[in-house]
Amino acid sequence: MILVTGATGSTGRYLVRQLVECGAEFRALVRDKAKGEALGVDYAVGDYDDPGSLAAAMEGVDRVYLASPGAQAETENGEQPMIRWEKNVIDAAKRAGAGYVVKLSVLHARIGGRMSEGGHGAIEAHLKESGLEWTILQPGGFMQNFLSPTASLRDGEGNLVGHEGDAPVAFIDAYDVAACAATLLTGNLARNETLPITGPEAIAYSEVAAKLSAGTEERIGFNGMSERGLGELLRGFGLAGELADELASLYASIGGGSYSEVTDVVERITGNAPRSFEAFMAANPEAFPQA
Ligand SMILES: NC(=O)c1ccc[n+]([C@@H]2O[C@H](COP(=O)([O-])OP(=O)(O)OC[C@H]3O[C@@H](n4cnc5c(N)ncnc54)[C@H](OP(=O)(O)O)[C@@H]3O)[C@@H](O)[C@H]2O)c1
Repeated sequence: MILVTGATGSTGRYLVRQLVECGAEFRALVRDKAKGEALGVDYAVGDYDDPGSLAAAMEGVDRVYLASPGAQAETENGEQPMIRWEKNVIDAAKRAGAGYVVKLSVLHARIGGRMSEGGHGAIEAHLKESGLEWTILQPGGFMQNFLSPTASLRDGEGNLVGHEGDAPVAFIDAYDVAACAATLLTGNLARNETLPITGPEAIAYSEVAAKLSAGTEERIGFNGMSERGLGELLRGFGLAGELADELASLYASIGGGSYSEVTDVVERITGNAPRSFEAFMAANPEAFPQA
């Protein structure tokens, strides 16, 4: 029995559908009954902050998909809450005797890293020390970040905002992250491996802006800013100073090429090529009727 955490999230929602399609036995962890009913699959109601609910959800479970919301604007004594949430799930898996965890992480995860890179770094270390078997999936940026204007960083004119370097990013469709997770959770591949997963190509934010605009009246441009300018913009959006600086520094590293490398992991694990940005747009006609 597989437990899918984050079952309503960007990757979890695809994973649920893919596990149904392949006939796998699984349970979805959701925060309330209505979300479970909407999924239409076996579910358990639970919360990462409620170890009792996690223990109940883990009954009979031998494999776990671990995904939480990632870095938050609000930290607790300087620590990202995602660290506590995911450690709770790992500890519950261990107590329940589940042997294997597929963990959704982020590219360049490391202890002391910026935002989610640091949070995931601490969680990865905890998972590796747990004695459980694991596979860690490390995507860079999700294509889903462009599903709506509010999902990505925009300026007052609606232009995509990024670092002036505008180096290409190997964006991945969350559908392909889920496809890797489904293959791993139903098989025996890549145990105790860390896999940086990407889409088929790297594209710059300015190219993404052109793809989003194509075939529409809207002209979305790219506003490349310095690290300092990005920090000021983020502070203007109400982000606390230190977090704004960390996020600006993350954007600067991405603008300098830290998310540019393309890997063949999706094809190697699933046997299928990952979706291109055009295929992602075509698969989401409600967001991109022009595609
Ligand atoms: N977005 C990107 O570009 C990107 C890139 C690389 C890596 N990542 C990583 O991918 C992960 C997922 O990020 P995302 O933004 O796409 O989030 P998401 O998966 O869309 O949403 C988080 C999921 O966790 C659930 N959840 C939240 N708080 C919970 C709690 N206290 N107890 C139980 N479940 C809870 C949410 O359920 P509800 O429906 O109830 O809210 C939702 O299903 C993060 O770790 C992030 O660092 C993201």
